[in-house]
Amino acid sequence: MREASPQTIYLKDYTFPEYLIDSVELSLVLSEEDTRVVSKMMMQKNPDSENRESLLELAGEELELISLAIDGKALSDDDYQLSEEHLQIAEVPQEQPFILAIENKINPKANTALEGLYLSKQMLCTQCEAQGFRKITYFLDRPDIMSTFKTTLIADKDKYPVLLSNGNKVAEGELQNNRHWVTWEDPFKKPCYLFALVAGDLSCIEDKFVTMSGREISLQIFVEAEDIDKCEHAMDSLKNAMRWDEQVYGREYDLDLYMIVAVSHFNMGAMENKGLNIFNTKFVLARPDTATDSDYEHIEGVIAHEYFHNWTGNRVTCRDWFQLSLKEGFTVFRDQEFSGDQTSKAIKRIEDVKLLRTRQFAEDAGPLAHPIRPDSYIEINNFYTLTVYEKGAEVVRMIHTLLGVEGFRRGSDLYFQRHDGQAVTCDDFVSAMEDANAIDLSLFRRWYSQAGTPELSVKQVYDSEQQCLTLEMQQSSSPTPRQQTKKPLHIPVKLGLINSDGTTEKINYQSRPVVEEIVLELKQEKQTFEFNNLASKPVVSLLRGFSAPVVLKMEQSLEELAFLVRHDSDTFNRWEAGQKMSGTIIFSLIEAIQKSEQLKFNNLLLSSLSHVLQQDWEDLSYLSLLLSLPDESYLASQMKIIDVEAIHEAREFIKKSIAEGLESVFVSLYKQNHKDESGCFDAAAIGRRRIKNLALSYLSSLDNQQFYEFSEQQYHTAKNMTDQLAALSLIIESKHPSKEICLQQFYEQWQHEALVIDKWFALQACSRSSQTFDTVKTLTQHSAFSLNNPNRVRSLIGAFSQSNQLHFHAENGQGYQFLVENVIALNRINPQVAARMVVGLTQWKRFDYERQQKMKTALNQLVNTAEISKDVFEVASKSLL
Ligand code: BES
Ligand code: ZN
Repeated sequence: MREASPQTIYLKDYTFPEYLIDSVELSLVLSEEDTRVVSKMMMQKNPDSENRESLLELAGEELELISLAIDGKALSDDDYQLSEEHLQIAEVPQEQPFILAIENKINPKANTALEGLYLSKQMLCTQCEAQGFRKITYFLDRPDIMSTFKTTLIADKDKYPVLLSNGNKVAEGELQNNRHWVTWEDPFKKPCYLFALVAGDLSCIEDKFVTMSGREISLQIFVEAEDIDKCEHAMDSLKNAMRWDEQVYGREYDLDLYMIVAVSHFNMGAMENKGLNIFNTKFVLARPDTATDSDYEHIEGVIAHEYFHNWTGNRVTCRDWFQLSLKEGFTVFRDQEFSGDQTSKAIKRIEDVKLLRTRQFAEDAGPLAHPIRPDSYIEINNFYTLTVYEKGAEVVRMIHTLLGVEGFRRGSDLYFQRHDGQAVTCDDFVSAMEDANAIDLSLFRRWYSQAGTPELSVKQVYDSEQQCLTLEMQQSSSPTPRQQTKKPLHIPVKLGLINSDGTTEKINYQSRPVVEEIVLELKQEKQTFEFNNLASKPVVSLLRGFSAPVVLKMEQSLEELAFLVRHDSDTFNRWEAGQKMSGTIIFSLIEAIQKSEQLKFNNLLLSSLSHVLQQDWEDLSYLSLLLSLPDESYLASQMKIIDVEAIHEAREFIKKSIAEGLESVFVSLYKQNHKDESGCFDAAAIGRRRIKNLALSYLSSLDNQQFYEFSEQQYHTAKNMTDQLAALSLIIESKHPSKEICLQQFYEQWQHEALVIDKWFALQACSRSSQTFDTVKTLTQHSAFSLNNPNRVRSLIGAFSQSNQLHFHAENGQGYQFLVENVIALNRINPQVAARMVVGLTQWKRFDYERQQKMKTALNQLVNTAEISKDVFEVASKSLL
């Protein structure tokens, strides 16, 4: 057990910094086990600080101090005090700026937490967000301290021919002993979490971008030599993102150079360090034969995300870490919109909402629920959550919906103009949106402080005499930890009305102009909205585009849903109607399973799907979504007590019934769209792959030799990873005779491509096959598995515990024990990643009594482990409350 409970940090305790650091000169002599750091900081008392004390406290962890001097005068041992996490200097000059010089030593090789300066294979690199800079040298490691950085790197020429840091290269030279040096200067003031350096033997592809004002920017992507043929897509994505930010937000890049480095060991996806992004290889490297269509899409999105941070995060940054959603929520919203514009807005929106509803809604309903701007934390790394990111993006999206495209742009222009070069709060963002549009968002601000997903109940009343439709809306939110009572929120509800012949009904609302679609603003707990001049009762299409992150409760018959699947012009609601329809049918099957009744298939679903299939579809990706059943995890999220076996059985039953009913249609869909278009990534080719693989997946459930041959043939002849992986996955999920051979062959074919081997691990971890648990356990001993590589951990342990509910939640609890053992081992290596692996256990309240006990036992084991990190402790202990 921990000796003492770790300290909680509160938003309400925020105070201005007592000292400022105007500029920093760093010099690092790099080596794997003994890197020397010299830091010279130009400092002064903060004029805004009221505290007149002369004590200076700097943050620093795992550092070995060598020397300290102020204005050139060395400090003696009595002048300062060192503790585990701080350096305190009793007396520093109060009246004028002074230079504090520090020399210290660090060991990158011993740094398995991958925070601060660490080793990724042979390469040295940094990760400083949120509080990693303090593992490089003593500093005021908080985002409201903004400084200019000048960095000199000194290293062996053969081991580290490439030496990079933020900004522009201003000088370089040679030294004795086969060493060289490079100096980088970043003219923009930045918080230290945006500092970065990279040293290694790297290859690079180069390109150019001409900005809207005609400046030429040099673009470089650095990777290991063997990956140089996998950078093109990342480069194209970068240029598209740069153009988009100019066109949509009027934002231009500011430095002359933009560098991206791909590293194989990385805790997260990617990092927006000023002028020098560091990326997980997963979000850079792609070649048609190694990366799937969805990998290509993710790369495009992540490259854009980190690029967009240059304005939303770097030029305007966060005052403190409670404001994280200021940069992350806004930037996720920006990358979502960008991705939608690149391919299909409809599909992007559906996919984002799927993620939000399965994962963020679960977080909001569980023990770790927190507002998008949390009030407290123990370990900030635990707050890079789906709530801060995805719900944060929904909150920005609602502002966008309320203000309209132009109003939102006026608001963002004012935000950038007002706060360029500053560290600000979520409130400043909302104020800029208000001031630019002369509207009042004071009620809307509750979205920032209130946790939990609101439920929106809607009752329709149609009066045929008055020709009037009334919508009675009521909102409520369940209590969340430390927030028992909830207030009404300002909720934009987008609405359309559809006539019985499928045409759009014009909306008459109060004295507003007649429109086809309207945004209703719900601000009270209960509110009614009246629509007049309706000769017959229209079908209501509510919460179009998923206009607010709420759970909508409105009675809709299966017939009404089938009607919407045919006629709703809103692409989101059209898909949603189909999901509700199949969801309703699956839930009635789940009930039958739980009562041991015989399962009967509902033909309404089949006729609705056939109708969809009879139409002429240009967007085959959208058609694939319409034909897909809700995921097991989404179904689970709608059950009070989750029954993983019944969910699986019911969903498989429906899937097979659909396949039986539509077999010939699926066969022809498969044959029509099965072409070799490897290397084609336009929406049409992606759509063809998607629909064909969906058809094959339905056919596979029929256990028929003929369709097994389709998969096997596709597996062996595929030249692109989308098709190869889809086929392999169907082979291992079925009773296919060549399962083992194909898995083995895949490993041999790809053993030198780490990212493909990650897929090989994940595929087995997610398998529904009855041997999965033993396989996963054995795979932890595989020579290619290592707890030191976060991508591997996520592919095996993460995938098993978060994407395989059927086996992770096995009744005997072996899944939970497996996870605990691995989290304890990982805790010593990488606390941040270890803490993220605990999610699978946090939802224990949603399972039956037996499983609850076993999950709680597992969480208690974590809390009671000696030397448990703050990271794991916070997640496990809060989950038990
Ligand atoms: N700033 C984060 C990365 C980060 C956060 C690194 C905390 C280390 C600690 C970055 O901008 C980010 O949000 N990355 C996401 C991907 C993005 C597309 C949502 C990630 O890494 O998952
Ligand atoms: Zn981000």
